[in-house]
Amino acid sequence: MILEVAGIDTYYGETQALFGVSLTVAPGEVVALLGPNGAGKTTTIRSVLGLTRPRRGQIRFDGRDISEAPTHEIARAGIGWVPDDRRICPTLTVARNLAIAMKRTRFRSWTMKEVFEIFTALEYLMARDAENLSGGEMQMVAIARSLLGAPGLVLFDEPSQGLAPMIVDKVLATIARLKAEGVASLIVEQNAETALGIADRVYVLDLGRTAWSGPAAALRDDPALRWRLLGA
Ligand SMILES: Nc1ncnc2c1ncn2[C@@H]1O[C@H](COP(=O)(O)OP(=O)(O)OP(=O)(O)O)[C@@H](O)[C@H]1O
Ligand SMILES: [Mg+2]
Repeated sequence: MILEVAGIDTYYGETQALFGVSLTVAPGEVVALLGPNGAGKTTTIRSVLGLTRPRRGQIRFDGRDISEAPTHEIARAGIGWVPDDRRICPTLTVARNLAIAMKRTRFRSWTMKEVFEIFTALEYLMARDAENLSGGEMQMVAIARSLLGAPGLVLFDEPSQGLAPMIVDKVLATIARLKAEGVASLIVEQNAETALGIADRVYVLDLGRTAWSGPAAALRDDPALRWRLLGA
């Protein structure tokens, strides 16, 4: 397993948001984390990144316990992050945003040329100040940034939210390409349809607990189960 989350309890102040959440992701696997608003999906990602540290439980990445590691070290170990709010530095150009994201890890770093092959438009946006980008353009930058950081695992938080179908297709193509190279993805999605189309396995969270986990095909093929778990 490239990622092993074992029984984490995560709090915001005194409020417990995660209750014994466990999940695993294998190299090259696409795992979807689904569940309603407030279920704890983003908190799970924040826990892995050490942004909101679990009080109990353990997180291992690439064979190493990262439960106590500082966030910059976790990133350097090879975990990429595509945040739900993109977090592009607005006062820098696109080129600069990408340049500061480049890292060496034990995993392969994507070249700028490969990134432009996927996101053709990006090449023409390089000199633009990031504050002038559209939502879709910002998402391209956010994903490109994660690839240039040489990830072994990418955490995608609502990667298709608010995007035009053409950009959503590019996001899905990127995840497929990562998979082909043995890079794992953990995808948080509200749009279960999109996630189920590409995921190998699924975890469903509800009120901070794992409500269900299993192969994506089981949810794809069983509308009644899908309805019970996701209301969709
Ligand atoms: N910064 C915070 N401070 C306090 N409570 C928070 C904070 N962020 C999230 N929470 C609470 O933690 C719980 C889990 O929230 P989280 O954002 O992880 O859910 P989510 O599954 O990502 O939901 P969404 O689909 O709306 O993004 C919720 O009850 C939420 O109100
Ligand atoms: Mg969220």
